This record gives sequence, C-alpha cells and structure tokens, in this order.
Amino acid sequence: METLFIIGFMGAGKTTVGRELGQRLSMNVVDTDEMIEKACKKSISSIFKEEGEAAFRQYEQRVLQTLAWPSTIVTTGGGIIITEANRKFMKNNGIVIFLHSDPQVVLERTAEDTTRPLLNEDRERQVTLLLNQRLPLYLEADYTVNTSFKSVDTIVDEITGFLTRDSRFWVK
Ligand code: S3P
Repeated sequence: METLFIIGFMGAGKTTVGRELGQRLSMNVVDTDEMIEKACKKSISSIFKEEGEAAFRQYEQRVLQTLAWPSTIVTTGGGIIITEANRKFMKNNGIVIFLHSDPQVVLERTAEDTTRPLLNEDRERQVTLLLNQRLPLYLEADYTVNTSFKSVDTIVDEITGFLTRDSRFWVK
C-alpha cells in the first residue's frame, strides 16, 4: 500500500482522523511534528521561539523526506505545503488527502490552544490570512474532505470510500 499523507490547516482534525483511519485500515501512523519534537528534544513552540520558523521548516522538510514508508499514514503540520519540495515529495511518494475546515470551525477548535506559535496573536486575522494564502496549495492534494461539522467516523468513511476506488492504494 502507498503512503497516505494527511494535510490541512491547524485544527482541521488531521491527528484525530489519521489515528482513526490507521485503525480502520491497519496502517501505521506517524506525525511529522511529533518526529521533529523527538529529534530536537523540544516542543514546536520552543523551536519557533528559540530558532525561528525558518529553522522549523528545515526540520520539517528533513523529517518528511524520511517518511515514504509503505502502509503508513503520515499526519503533517499545517504549514508543510508552504515548501514546494514537500508538496512534490508527497505527490511523488503517496496519496495526498486534504482535510479542509471552515475558518470559524478552526477558530473554535483552536480557541484554548497555546501550543501553536502561529496563532498566538490576533488569531482571527491570522487564521483568515494563512488559510487564504495556503488554500491553493492544499488544493493540489489528490482528495479533499471538508471536516467541518462531521464526525470522525463520517470523515474516515469518506476517505476509505475514495481510497478503495484508487488503484494506487492497492499496489504493493
Ligand atoms: C503549523 C502547524 C502546526 C505546527 C506548527 C506550524 C502551521 O501543526 O506544525 O505550529 O504552519 O500551520 P498542526 O497543523 O498539527 O497544528
């Protein structure tokens, strides 16, 4: 089976959906942010604070390049698609699934969150700005699922539905 890359904005449900999808399809699940934190031995917030976003993006790219594993779901940080090489890598090495959420839903889901450095100030403006900037890049994915107001089960049903019709998914 191909690698599945789950992309989408912060708060779109990538981690939750990725885990559930992994259970349903008996696939391993790895998360780029978790791998970066393990490798750097510090939190994403600390990396942003101490080394800056550019350094984080380099770690992100380096980690992604190691993850074209068969039968694996890779859940990614929301900004992974900013880097063109990352978009190419995912396209060339697997099936890319974009989880889309309405800005209002993103704001609600991230309301109490202090772990996302890019949403620390003026959240509403940041979400609108970043989502607008990134949307065309997310839409380069193979499949898009809107996750706003849907249960995890429904989202996973939708994803398994189109995967079973995708011949790449069945290639060993
Ligand atoms: C980021 C999203 C975060 C994390 C970092 C940057 C972004 O991941 O990678 O804070 O640029 O959108 P989540 O999408 O899992 O929150």
